[in-house]
Amino acid sequence: MKKDLLCLYDLESRDFQEIFEKSAKLKKMLREGIPHTHLAGKTLGMIFDKSSTRTRLSFEVGIYQLGGIAIYLNSRDIQLARGESVEDTARVVSRYLDGLMIRTFSQAVVEEYARYATIPIINGLTDLLHPCQILGDLFTVFEKKGRHEGLRIAYVGDGNNIANTWVEAAARLPIILVLACPAGYDPDAGILGRAMKNAPGRIHLYREPREAVSGADVVYTDVWTSMCQEAQKEARAKAFKAYQVNSTLMGHAKADAIVMHCLPAHRGEEITAEVMDGPRSVVVDQAENRLHVQKAIMEILMGGGKKD
Ligand code: CP
Ligand code: NVA
Repeated sequence: MKKDLLCLYDLESRDFQEIFEKSAKLKKMLREGIPHTHLAGKTLGMIFDKSSTRTRLSFEVGIYQLGGIAIYLNSRDIQLARGESVEDTARVVSRYLDGLMIRTFSQAVVEEYARYATIPIINGLTDLLHPCQILGDLFTVFEKKGRHEGLRIAYVGDGNNIANTWVEAAARLPIILVLACPAGYDPDAGILGRAMKNAPGRIHLYREPREAVSGADVVYTDVWTSMCQEAQKEARAKAFKAYQVNSTLMGHAKADAIVMHCLPAHRGEEITAEVMDGPRSVVVDQAENRLHVQKAIMEILMGGGKKD
């Protein structure tokens, strides 16, 4: 694997395999109470420019279980907020930390950190991408379906960071990704164009949710208004009105289709309570798997090549 985890497009299929195998191993060890302090003495810094429940907790708990510690840095409290450059911050923190996770706005910023830091940089969500989330989701899909090959993943809603990362995943893994987004809310054109070229016939974009969900193995949705888009909430509620994952829509999916959501969710908007809390929903398992998968990622990137 490369030094950093900034996007899924950078991963090769053997990297995905290594992450999923290690995640399964670590999950089993935790379940069986077997100590796995593979990162004893290591420190992860976590810079947050946006809110978080799952990402912060799963990284913090994860490194603790691996024998290391995490340091939470709200970007408002560090010198970055007073104008210290990313370049200087990246160079300096590299002398203290063994890895740095960043949740911020611009993808270019995490790339800048990666350029100047000598330690691994992990993208914990940007406006463009959320690679840790989709790695956890792919692991969950594998657990539930026993394979990735040929699975039809329907993504309904906003062509946001989650959708973009699914597009990157579909360029790298043998899944079929079928998106339904309203006009004006498509995934990033550059990401979509590159992935479609790279994986011809595996990525489809529709306007009509039913078309995307028809015959799907997995139905995935995310909020209509992402963090820091709150000013657009009303316009978005109108644009996405017909894009709700509800039981009528689920009727078009395969009988054994599962429902996924990265969370946080807004019941009654992008997903009904009935579907979210129903028997096909795997959202809590999905959230749990963030822990196991990020532990694997940290071990691979921060473990200095040490094998367990
Ligand atoms: N799914 C996810 O990243 O959740 P948080 O925003 O709570 O970290
Ligand atoms: N699209 C959402 C994902 C949250 C995990 C957001 O960026 O707010």
